[in-house]
This record gives sequence, C-alpha cells and structure tokens, in this order.
Amino acid sequence: MSHTSERKAEHIRLCLEEQVNAEGIRTGFEQYRFRHQALPELDFAEVHLKTVFLGASLRTPLLISSMTGGSKLAGEINARLAEAAERRGWTLAVGSVRAAVEHGELASTFNVRRLAPSIPIIANLGAVQLNYGYGPDDCRRAVEIVGADMLVLHLNSLQEVFQPEGNTNFSGLLSRIERVCRELPIPVGIKEVGWGIDGVTARRLREAGAAFVDVAGAGGTSWSQVEKFRGSDAVRRAAAEAFADWGIPTAECIREVRAVLPDAALIGSGGLNTGVDAAKALALGADLAGFGRALLEPAVHSEERLDMLLERVELELRTAMFGIGAGSIGELKNTSRLIRRE
Ligand SMILES: Cc1cc2nc3c(=O)[nH]c(=O)nc-3n(C[C@H](O)[C@H](O)[C@H](O)COP(=O)(O)O)c2cc1C
Repeated sequence: MSHTSERKAEHIRLCLEEQVNAEGIRTGFEQYRFRHQALPELDFAEVHLKTVFLGASLRTPLLISSMTGGSKLAGEINARLAEAAERRGWTLAVGSVRAAVEHGELASTFNVRRLAPSIPIIANLGAVQLNYGYGPDDCRRAVEIVGADMLVLHLNSLQEVFQPEGNTNFSGLLSRIERVCRELPIPVGIKEVGWGIDGVTARRLREAGAAFVDVAGAGGTSWSQVEKFRGSDAVRRAAAEAFADWGIPTAECIREVRAVLPDAALIGSGGLNTGVDAAKALALGADLAGFGRALLEPAVHSEERLDMLLERVELELRTAMFGIGAGSIGELKNTSRLIRRE
C-alpha cells in the first residue's frame, strides 16, 4: 500500500473505533428549535424533498460528505455509498482522490459513476496539494477517475499540522485555487473538514471562482482528535488534544456565509446526525445538508443498515417539515419557524 492509502485505511479504522468527535464544542444546531405548527394544512404524503443544486434537479437536498477511497475496504465503502445514494437520490462525494492520481491501480476504488449513473458526484482533492506540485491537469484527472460532475478542494490546515507527514505550506493558495476554478470546465467548490469556513473567507473563495462552499463546521468529527491517535510523535499527539474544541460551529458558519453570500450555492455539514439537523441546516440557509462520519459505520456494516439510516434521515427531515407546515424545501428555507433558544 502507498503511504496515502495506508493513512486513509487508518483514518477509517480510527473513525470507527475511537472517540474522534470534537469535545467542548457543539454544532450550534442545539441552540435552535422549530416552532411547532399544530395545523399544517398539508398532506404528509405530499411533503417532498425535491430541490435544485447548481442547475441539477435532485430528489433530496442531502449529501454524503467526502470520505473514502484508495484501499480495498474504502473501495467497498464507496461502492455501498454509491449504490445507496443512487437508490435514494442523495448527492455523493468521494474522499480525496490523490491516492489514485498517484497510483493508477487504485482508481477502481473511486470509480463510483458506474454504480450511480443518475446522481451528482463530487470528486475531492486537498487544496494544499496545489502548493506541492498539483495543478489543473491533476484535478482533471481526479474528476475523470471518479466520473464526477464537480470537484471539491478541501482546506485542512490543522490536520496537516498534526499529520506526521503533513503538507503545511498554505501560503499563496488562493490564487492557485482561482486558477483551478478558472481552468476546469466543471463546478469547483471548497470545503473544510470539520473546523468551518467563516463568511469573509467564503466571500474570498467565491470571488476566486468557487462554485460552491461547504462549511464543514465544528461539532462533529474532529481531525485533531483523529490524528492524536496516529504516529509516534508524543509532542504532536499531546498538542492535538488542545484542539478538541477548535473551530466554528456548523450552524454559525451556515448563517454567516449565507448572510454574506445570499445567492451562492452553500452546503451545510459538520456533525449532522439526524434529519432534524438537516432541516435546521437548510432553514439556516444551506442548499444541501451533508453527512460524514454518521454514515461510516452503517456503510461498513451492511447495505441494509445504510439504507435504513438514509431512509430514517429523510423521514426525520420530511416530518420536521410537516411539523412546521413546510411542504417543500423552498418553504423550509423560507420558514420563520426556526427560533433561537433563549
Ligand atoms: C473516514 C473519513 C474520511 C474523510 N476523508 C476526507 C477526505 O478525503 N477529504 C475531505 O475533504 N474530507 C474528508 N473527511 C471529512 C468529511 O468530509 C467531513 O467534512 C467531516 O468529517 C465533518 O463532517 P462529520 O462531522 O459529519 O463527519 C473525512 C471524514 C471521515 C469520517
């Protein structure tokens, strides 16, 4: 196995076995509640999740966040995620495709298009790689390997610090991101990995040509928590501990980015566990709601368990909409029934 794919396999294991959630910080969704509407004047059977994202018609506003690829297990997880996403009409993102860009023999673990012909698929690379030799051609290659419609570049500065083999030169990155956005013929978005993107940063990324922003805020998976279980460097591991509560809560990111960029395509993710979380993300201004680690264990376990979880999330989302009298995603996004708790 290459270094990159070994690391990816270890990430999966740690995310399944260890306490890798942020500690001392929450998503911020808990600060909001929906004000119940006792008389919704709707038929629940007609509450639907259809929406449009970057011109694509979608059956749900739900996204499987970037996670895996690059090892045998990761390939199996991607296949299961792809088949479930196709069945239920979720958008699918795969994990960083770097392993396959550098080792062509790993490409099949990322090639999910054959299993998911009809849904939008998002390829993924680390933005910082643009400071380490990557350019638009490598990004195109990543998109081709996956059969993707879009690319997302992730910003993971602190993870790179705590990763023993991390790439920590983030200087001058914005202009390189701008070049990729300009030269790729498909939408290129930017995401974090669990520490969040604030409004001002989102605007800079948007001005650089980012087609969408995925805030990937704090309160869920913490990559300093994950990295603290890796490597032999005791100082680094101990330092990672101090960042367990780092980041901008997801709800705060969504609200702030939406306020600064009223019309931009926006994904709300980071620590989502239920369809009620997704409803709050959408009501706060997100266009899609993304789920990461919450899907990992079901995806490893079985097709049945993964399907049940996706179905449960959709039921929770539709029920939350029914509970406030919103029959469509458009109505949910415009609701006045999301209240900040006192
Ligand atoms: C096992 C695992 C692997 C991940 N790999 C990637 C990756 O390759 N690229 C990326 O942008 N984010 C990656 N992430 C981060 C997720 O996309 C997401 O932003 C983050 O986990 C926060 O969402 P969550 O709290 O719902 O897990 C990974 C997450 C998990 C759990």
